[in-house]
Amino acid sequence: MEQFALDAIARITTEPPKSYATITVEPLTPVIGAEVSGLDLSKDLTDDQWAEVKHAFLRHHVLVFRGQELTDEDHKRFAGRFGELHPVTLPVEGSDPHVLEISADKESRAVAGHGWHADGTADLRPSLGSMLYITRTPEVGSGGDTMFADMHLAYEMLSPAMKGLLDGMTAVHDGLLAWQGQTPPPEYDVPKNVHPVVARHPETGRRLLFVNNVYVSHIEQLSRRESRSVIDMLCDHIASTALLHCRVRWTPGTLVFWDNRCVQHHAIWDYFPYTRYGRRVAIQGHRPTA
Ligand code: SIN
Repeated sequence: MEQFALDAIARITTEPPKSYATITVEPLTPVIGAEVSGLDLSKDLTDDQWAEVKHAFLRHHVLVFRGQELTDEDHKRFAGRFGELHPVTLPVEGSDPHVLEISADKESRAVAGHGWHADGTADLRPSLGSMLYITRTPEVGSGGDTMFADMHLAYEMLSPAMKGLLDGMTAVHDGLLAWQGQTPPPEYDVPKNVHPVVARHPETGRRLLFVNNVYVSHIEQLSRRESRSVIDMLCDHIASTALLHCRVRWTPGTLVFWDNRCVQHHAIWDYFPYTRYGRRVAIQGHRPTA
């Protein structure tokens, strides 16, 4: 591996570990993801607990809380500690406008999130993060894992020349692309927005790669052919560089909170025709900036 990529990895692996007083945090990999224990999320967090969860979130980007028994109200209260709730894109009449069902079974012909992406990046203000609470896992014993990839390290591992090319560029994120040729319902005002290719995390200031295969149509400063090649190269880098990834195996009662600003995820649909069920609450984010 090139020295610039090794240096980027070493900056993360040599970061001094933080000791926590109110929670236990076990990293999933040195790069991304951690299991957090010592919390019952059906109860209000103390300010100290919240501050430690927040610290772990900014350090590990994906937090896994197991053994939780949550109502929708508990779920929304926990999410609400991190900001205003982000409404569901296409709310179902009679259901909670902030709770999205994530469900697949033998009738499914597609599932949400099967492929690397960040949520809703065609929005002007994509969500800060999502909390997915899975209550039913496939009856076959395993399957339905979710993978996550760190967009900070994805950027930092690029060569200085590639970073120089991408810094300052902007990409069009088109909500229609996510429909893959299908027609969205007429009441849906399909979002389309321009975001920096290299964005900064609004809380840590760290740079990150902000392109994904689901929403990005093109990079504005390049020809269509150049743009296609660069997007394909970046998405291939994200999908095939295993050290950027962690993989969460769900058990019923697991809640995962990921930072949608600096993480992409991929829900693996390897369990057809079995059933997987959960509910997702998202938190409102800000417009990405360079
Ligand atoms: C999603 O939010 O894209 C779905 C994630 C999952 O089902 O694991």
